[in-house]
Amino acid sequence: MTKVDLNFVEGLTLEERADLVSGTDFWFTAKVTGMDPMLMTDGPSGLRKQVNVHSAMDQSIEAVCFPCSALTASSFDDAMLEKLGKNLGTAARAEKIGVLLGPGVNIKRSPLAGRNFEYFSEDPLLAGRMGTAYVKGVQSTGVGVSVKHFATNNREDQRFTNSSDVDERTLREIYLAQFERIVKLAHPATLMCSYNKLNGVQVSQNQHLLTHILRDEWGYQGLVMSDWGAVVDHVAAIKAGLDLEMPGKGDASKEEIVQAVKEGRLQESTLNRSALRVLKMAERYGYPTVAAPEYDMEAQHEFARQLADDSIVLLKNENKELPLNKDAKLAVIGELAEKPRFEGGGSSHVNAHRVVTPKEVMPQNASYAQGYRLDSDQPDDQLTKEALELAKNSDQVVVFAGFPEAMESEGFDKKSISLPANQNQLIDQLLAVNAHVTVVLQNGSAVEMPWEPKVPAIVETYLAGEAVGEATWDILSGQVNPSGKLSETFPVQLTDNPTYPTFGKDRRHEVYREGIFMGYRYYDAKKLAVRFPFGHGLSYTNFEYRNLAIKENSDDVEVSFDLANTGKQAGKEVAQIYVANHASQTVMPVDELRDFVKVELNPGETKHVALKLLRRAFAWYNAETATWEADNGKYEILVGSSSRDIRLCQEFELTIGTNPLGKITGETYVGELMENADAQIKQVIAEFQLTDVFEKFMSPELAPVFANIPLRSLTMADVDAKTVHELIQKLNELE
Ligand code: BGC
Repeated sequence: MTKVDLNFVEGLTLEERADLVSGTDFWFTAKVTGMDPMLMTDGPSGLRKQVNVHSAMDQSIEAVCFPCSALTASSFDDAMLEKLGKNLGTAARAEKIGVLLGPGVNIKRSPLAGRNFEYFSEDPLLAGRMGTAYVKGVQSTGVGVSVKHFATNNREDQRFTNSSDVDERTLREIYLAQFERIVKLAHPATLMCSYNKLNGVQVSQNQHLLTHILRDEWGYQGLVMSDWGAVVDHVAAIKAGLDLEMPGKGDASKEEIVQAVKEGRLQESTLNRSALRVLKMAERYGYPTVAAPEYDMEAQHEFARQLADDSIVLLKNENKELPLNKDAKLAVIGELAEKPRFEGGGSSHVNAHRVVTPKEVMPQNASYAQGYRLDSDQPDDQLTKEALELAKNSDQVVVFAGFPEAMESEGFDKKSISLPANQNQLIDQLLAVNAHVTVVLQNGSAVEMPWEPKVPAIVETYLAGEAVGEATWDILSGQVNPSGKLSETFPVQLTDNPTYPTFGKDRRHEVYREGIFMGYRYYDAKKLAVRFPFGHGLSYTNFEYRNLAIKENSDDVEVSFDLANTGKQAGKEVAQIYVANHASQTVMPVDELRDFVKVELNPGETKHVALKLLRRAFAWYNAETATWEADNGKYEILVGSSSRDIRLCQEFELTIGTNPLGKITGETYVGELMENADAQIKQVIAEFQLTDVFEKFMSPELAPVFANIPLRSLTMADVDAKTVHELIQKLNELE
């Protein structure tokens, strides 16, 4: 039974209420009469609870380190993300943690962004689906989450002060859509507002975001906390919709609120509203007296391995270089095999329970050479020599490469996405002595691969968590058939990225000039070659797509097809459904991911896949009318194995949306009107005896010029102004 309500809040002293809206220290909410404090800790890939729970930066407890979100998103597997959430929630409960500070669902706008490893994708649908599953998983255990960092915290440099300047359509379609999905479908206990400014207004004080969009439009009922140190003006923040400042500033936090209430700068009802949300959270998720349930860390380690198995991406596999030949003499090269990068730096850093390195569990027929030093980007002659000697005398070579820890972390952005020079050089040298080279990558985000055309096999493992060694060999040996797909585009070079000219260039403003053309939406519109496209990932078996069928219902569109495993091995395929809008009168991406499904198939097996696309899958955000609009007219559904490997496509006509013409005005063009003219519109034109005029204008000879005349200028073609006015009026009366 809940004891916390407005009466309870009003029974507290002003000081107590003021206390509640700031953390007592780094990790706890305040204790007030009748309510104990609640503990929260990071983070997305494992628990970062401090040994001394009240300290800001202590050693954290031992915890299982799961793969980073860049890798887990590559699973495209909602069920696995939900299990990840359950594992984290179970561990959090055992540690008496009320709220887990994650997942981070910001969009990967630039591959340079320092925190990309902690985020899911460049695509909001994928980020939203993964986030929703994760949140449902955690919260099913009775632990709350804090979905972060709301919103547009897409760079690390100057993250406390920089303004993300984004137009409203881009904001809604690309940078908020994943938050919206999670809020509406998974009901997260809390959201964490980001450090930055949005269009010039500090996010912690941004009423448009924290109240108008989040609460009024999306109906969010939970609590909004600040990122650590994101509050500039606490009173302004509470007024704008922030509930909890983290961490607190000690007595100063309380005093500023008490003072503001006394001086009438903050209404008590506004303070009470936030205090109530904090209490409700503490009541629901704080349980310091409950005995900790047991949990099995080894079982969680095994899950971390399965999750990495399900997510690692086989980028390239020419002439079946992989799986490795069991009888071959194998060279394992690269310091990352011995000192793997398996987790990211910053607040998500976990004191890992049991790290298994690739070197420790390499097959018996393998020999190891360090090859390069991680603490330098200069080649080491002796190490190079040993590695080349080993490669020369081996049948196959596996070289581990990636970004060293110093290059990639929360708190700063990267300067480049190329591997350290010593690693690139070594890969080239290895290729000169042995053609059978597999590159295994450990990195938090997209990387340049100048050597790609010469390398037969490449495996992307991102930061694979503490079971990195086991999972890597599961894939290389073929014990597990890879099924991960890239959740981001790998450009040929950094300069191809649409944000390259602007990203991180201005200390005060990050201007999202590329708008909605970000990630694959840009590369596809430009028809630009990429190293590996969004959604790409290979398998050791083959899949065939057949029999696409599309059916429009009264409020959704049904898409169905058959997926067959035509190879000799069981495997999983991520079938991706993209929608191309050919109807809109506005700027649209070539196509956009609107659904996906991961299907497991035995050799020779075929499964029928059927899914429903809701109206929103066809909609774009009209900033002028502040609504999501779905245009009626021609669309194409594309079903494929990646964004650039489309296997089936079919056009269809959408009728459950709205007429793309919108309101007809004097500024509607003749061509526009006629291209969208249905029987009713034609009838009205006939009533005004203008059929001949319009037909003449649309004739092949005249259309190039006359289709391009707005209705108000029909007067130039001898139609009097009164008729034009009445015609427009009549057309707008149509259903
Ligand atoms: C990070 C958050 C994190 C918090 C607490 C901040 O610096 O941005 O993601 O949850 O610290 O560690």
